[in-house]
Amino acid sequence: MNESRIDFVPPGARPGRGARPVKDGEKLTIRVLRYNPADPQSVPHLQSYELEQSAGMTLFIALNEIREKLDPSLQFDFVCRAGICGSCAMVINGRPTLACRTLTRDVGPEIILAPLPVFELIGDLSVNTGKWMRAMSERLETWVHMKQAELDLTRIEERMDPDLAEKIYELDRCIECGCCVSACGTARMREDFVGAVGINKIARFRLDPRDARTDADYYEVIGDDDGVFGCMSLLGCHDVCPKDLPLQTQIAFVRRKMAAQGFG
Ligand code: SF4
Ligand code: F3S
Ligand code: FES
Repeated sequence: MNESRIDFVPPGARPGRGARPVKDGEKLTIRVLRYNPADPQSVPHLQSYELEQSAGMTLFIALNEIREKLDPSLQFDFVCRAGICGSCAMVINGRPTLACRTLTRDVGPEIILAPLPVFELIGDLSVNTGKWMRAMSERLETWVHMKQAELDLTRIEERMDPDLAEKIYELDRCIECGCCVSACGTARMREDFVGAVGINKIARFRLDPRDARTDADYYEVIGDDDGVFGCMSLLGCHDVCPKDLPLQTQIAFVRRKMAAQGFG
């Protein structure tokens, strides 16, 4: 193949979905973009591995099979295998998504894997989303800012309306996988853009009656071009979020509130 140009969507495959389901026993070709930034000799290249499709095989299973039987040096991350920890996000046939929730039968027989862009590359398919998420979290102060100055552990918790608790829970389902950031054109251009994940967190804390912050406080952390006004409504974030968070609605809502705050 021509190594100078890498096409991340195999011919015949739609992003995230193969042209036809792969049958059990059929050959799978998994091509991985490999690069180790810690090794000065390392050059980015696609490496091919061949496996046999088996019933219920996910990319988690396939990558572990490669590491166990073909190549122990391959780097990738997994923790929960259940779509909960967010650590297995990678670009699969051109689309950022979770490897542990992706069936090889749906994306094969040729699968091209690359690490999530935007985040610091550790090696091969492993990226440091934690470092990025922590910086975003510290900048936006994504924790409840209590109304009372002192924490009183003897106080009985206040009741919360179940409908409101449900709305907060809906936004709290974010697993910080980073797919929305990798799919976002603004995040590719603006290093400090907080992404849909950050804007969604502001939406979550705005809802929380225990948080003492006002829209003026939120405007201070998100009312600029690295915050909600940097979003160009490209909606890649909404399309790829594996938890189906209502990002489009939340971004529009937070933008309206911050515009009212800034220009009102
Ligand atoms: Fe992942 Fe969705 Fe959270 Fe973005 S908003 S980090 S895509 S779960
Ligand atoms: Fe990016 Fe989503 Fe806005 S993809 S530009 S954060 S709508
Ligand atoms: Fe946890 Fe995939 S391994 S989300």
